[in-house]
Amino acid sequence: MNSDQNNHVRESDDFDTEIIMMIERKAFRSEVEPQLVLDLLDDQSAKPILSLLAFKDEVPVGHILFTKALIESNEPSPFTYILAPIAVRPEYQGQGIGSSLVEEGLKRLHEMGAELVFVLGHERYYPRFGFVPNASGFGFMPPYTLQPHQSNAWMVQSLNSKGLEEYPKGRIVCANAMDKPEYWYE
Ligand SMILES: CC(C)(COP(=O)(O)OP(=O)(O)OC[C@H]1O[C@@H](n2cnc3c(N)ncnc32)[C@H](O)[C@@H]1OP(=O)(O)O)[C@@H](O)C(=O)NCCC(=O)NCCS
Repeated sequence: MNSDQNNHVRESDDFDTEIIMMIERKAFRSEVEPQLVLDLLDDQSAKPILSLLAFKDEVPVGHILFTKALIESNEPSPFTYILAPIAVRPEYQGQGIGSSLVEEGLKRLHEMGAELVFVLGHERYYPRFGFVPNASGFGFMPPYTLQPHQSNAWMVQSLNSKGLEEYPKGRIVCANAMDKPEYWYE
């Protein structure tokens, strides 16, 4: 568990599903992302999964999910993850909770031995955590073709000392539950 005076982040467990759904619904105001999270939590191809909850004054306020992925190439795939989705309850946004979830997630992935992490997200938000825009430019193609204006939104980072050019290149194969074109836009 990572914590300061009022905030802490911990891994979720099977008893947290309702809390996670509440956070996802409030953050996205939609049933799409909550259903994706439910499906991913139950998806063998996404495992080992990293699912973290953030608390402020013991109130659950944020959630982040990292699911396993592969790089399709002739070489063995690096140990790879995709960050999606991340959700912070609207009334708690802009207080660093999203940042603490991303930072704690990356730290734990590194400890697990993960090598690469991808995200499809806003290019003004994720580079502050070490993500590099335009992962396709490094040879890491997204699971579905993106529109040209989305190319910078597809980001990657190496979690160890290896440079991006040292990894096998190819298309990223995401967990089955996420393997639908409607999830691949930004
Ligand atoms: C994106 C989100 C998780 C950020 O959480 P947060 O706790 O507000 O983030 P932090 O407080 O750590 O960081 C706030 C920063 O993020 C920026 N930010 C928030 N949402 C953003 C977005 N969609 N695009 C770009 N930047 C964004 C803010 O402008 C702020 O920037 P600043 O530090 O330069 O002022 C939260 O806004 C959220 O849940 N949004 C709804 C769900 C969503 O869109 N998730 C992302 C797609 S999976």
